[in-house]
Amino acid sequence: MSQNPLVRPLTRRRLLLGGSAAGAAALVPVALRPAAAAKTPTHALAAGPGRVRMVGDAYPETTVWAYDGQVPGPEIRVRQGDRLRIEVTNRLAEETTVHWHGLRVPNAMDGVPHLTQRPIGPFETFTYEFDALDAGTFWYHPHQRSHEQVGRGLHGALIVEEREPVPVDRDLCWVLGDWRLKGDASISNDFGAMMDISHGGRVGNTVTVNGRVLDVVPVRAGERVRLRLVNAANARIFGLRFQGHRPTVIAIDGHPVEPHEPEDGRIVLAPAMRVDLVLDMAGAPGDRSNVVDDFHPNLAYRLLDLGYGPDRLRDRPPDTPVRLPANPVAEPDLSAAVRHEVALGGGMMGTMAGAMVDGRMTDMRTLLRQGMAWAINGVSAGGADRHGGGEVSGHVMDPIFTIERGRTCVIAMANDTAWHHPMHLHGHTFRVLSRNGRPTRFKEWQDTVLLAPRERVEIAFVADNPGDWMFHCHILEHQAAGMMSTIRVA
Ligand code: C2O
Ligand code: CU
Repeated sequence: MSQNPLVRPLTRRRLLLGGSAAGAAALVPVALRPAAAAKTPTHALAAGPGRVRMVGDAYPETTVWAYDGQVPGPEIRVRQGDRLRIEVTNRLAEETTVHWHGLRVPNAMDGVPHLTQRPIGPFETFTYEFDALDAGTFWYHPHQRSHEQVGRGLHGALIVEEREPVPVDRDLCWVLGDWRLKGDASISNDFGAMMDISHGGRVGNTVTVNGRVLDVVPVRAGERVRLRLVNAANARIFGLRFQGHRPTVIAIDGHPVEPHEPEDGRIVLAPAMRVDLVLDMAGAPGDRSNVVDDFHPNLAYRLLDLGYGPDRLRDRPPDTPVRLPANPVAEPDLSAAVRHEVALGGGMMGTMAGAMVDGRMTDMRTLLRQGMAWAINGVSAGGADRHGGGEVSGHVMDPIFTIERGRTCVIAMANDTAWHHPMHLHGHTFRVLSRNGRPTRFKEWQDTVLLAPRERVEIAFVADNPGDWMFHCHILEHQAAGMMSTIRVA
């Protein structure tokens, strides 16, 4: 039987290496073992050990944990309205799950161990199946001991294309990775180090784009690129500048936003966040221009260069604005909203004296000794075993609050710490209403919102997806060390 032509098979990850020929060739999707008879093709994805060339030919390969042996995992590309069915096989020596970050899936497909499913044991298979309701740039990763499983390479992009193609010359995706490598390009084994847990998380020493340290990305004068940025790093926050260019932000966390130039010309991308840009190649043939990350100005570095080829695609890039169609997300009704306060506490240089662990008040020093450092509303979740899932010492986490299904919920978050926290809510997309009491410019739809130290942020969403949903910091060491919780929609 032939395949459903509306369902595009999974494509191999697109490499930006090797000049424009590779760019063109990568547009041809390569099927990953689609099942013959099904109307919804089943795609296979295997999590297991692998070896990849990450740094450069002068270095040995790096041993990773990877989906289908690739870092990032294969780019999954479907169209809005398609149904996905993905059969995940675990070839790791430990349990795993897959979470479809940012996709509004039914609770049972959300990939949170113990909370929404039994974890997938070694040699076991679990089939995820859900509809791609929203178009946009999403990603997938394990939710089991995420800080190590994601940090060793288990992450990939999931792109849901709009029903009507967006008029650009090329559609590129950069999955940003951050690794702590040793001199022989092997991954440093110090996952869960106390220093990382109690400070800014495991920030690495090697930044990759689509799994490689890149020098030049080839571009052509006059072309218009849609660039999808995915921050798959455990802890690194990027602040990207495209020198000599004026990128326009068209989507955040997959969802359309009023097209705008980013503040100060810098695109800030906390862990788990995505930003879609329209990047017009306004330079001249032969130009090279830097893309730099200066989120921490005193640690700024060149990520890569845009390298202009010898020819022009056209005289100048098109100047018609690109506007994406809205996704079918319910609009919050603020006049009838229920309001909840969420306080983030803990970490070094903070004021938290202690927190509840497994129902017991525990002082900060004891917490740290147990590998815990953070709390949400005074509760440090996870106990001594840092699973990164939804289970606390054998029992599933109790929700911090319950919202009546269909109701609009406002969450007022206060970051009472000296650190940044990208807070992520599962199963829903929220509007970012305000920061420090001031309305945001675009009321952006997001699933992960970055709070600066001491910042207060209000978000709003319609609680229309029933179930228990994770609400946690996406600096994966913070999550592992207690900064996670669940909310219930019932
Ligand atoms: Cu990207 Cu709870 O996850
Ligand atoms: Cu955090």
